[in-house]
Amino acid sequence: MSRTIVFLAASPSPTSPCMFVANQVAASAERAGVQPVFFSVCDFDASDVFAGRASAPSVARFLDAVGQAEGLVLSTPVYKATYSGALKAVVDLLAADALVGRKALGVATTKLAAHGVDLAAAYRALFAFFRVSWGEALVVLDDEIKVDGSGGTLAADAGARIAQAADALVAK
Ligand SMILES: Cc1cc2nc3c(=O)[nH]c(=O)nc-3n(C[C@H](O)[C@H](O)[C@H](O)COP(=O)(O)O)c2cc1C
Repeated sequence: MSRTIVFLAASPSPTSPCMFVANQVAASAERAGVQPVFFSVCDFDASDVFAGRASAPSVARFLDAVGQAEGLVLSTPVYKATYSGALKAVVDLLAADALVGRKALGVATTKLAAHGVDLAAAYRALFAFFRVSWGEALVVLDDEIKVDGSGGTLAADAGARIAQAADALVAK
């Protein structure tokens, strides 16, 4: 069976800094032989998510993909000093034991470094709840990343942190 990792992206823009970082992690996983399976919060019908309808097609696809994956990557812009509410609403659809024995990584981009620290603490609590094996959050500052229509560039230190987080994610 092929190795997969589910990515759940909260940013509403496919060309945003946060998506750029998630795509870098995904490309690194792919080079290591692990297939990324991407979901965006925009793929879900909000009424299905808020009503917790596990059998709704988009929700069922997500739950099934997570069930088959060796890990989950959550990717969010920092909103109000934490992860986006839409991301959390989708994560709330997962059963409490859905990630036991799997790996997780939290990714975020943020304007303020202090809110990156708050976000890392929020991911820590979330992953501890799920009893999943997780690495420290990958937080990239807006100042470390420049995204344009054809791609993006990263400060050297941010590139190294992304590579390190991706390596840890796909290590057996
Ligand atoms: C609604 C909204 C709320 C935000 N709240 C914060 C915040 O509390 N702290 C912070 O440092 N940055 C905040 N930001 C900035 C974003 O987290 C940051 O620019 C991020 O890189 C945006 O990523 P995206 O373009 O991929 O969505 C906020 C941005 C928006 C649009």
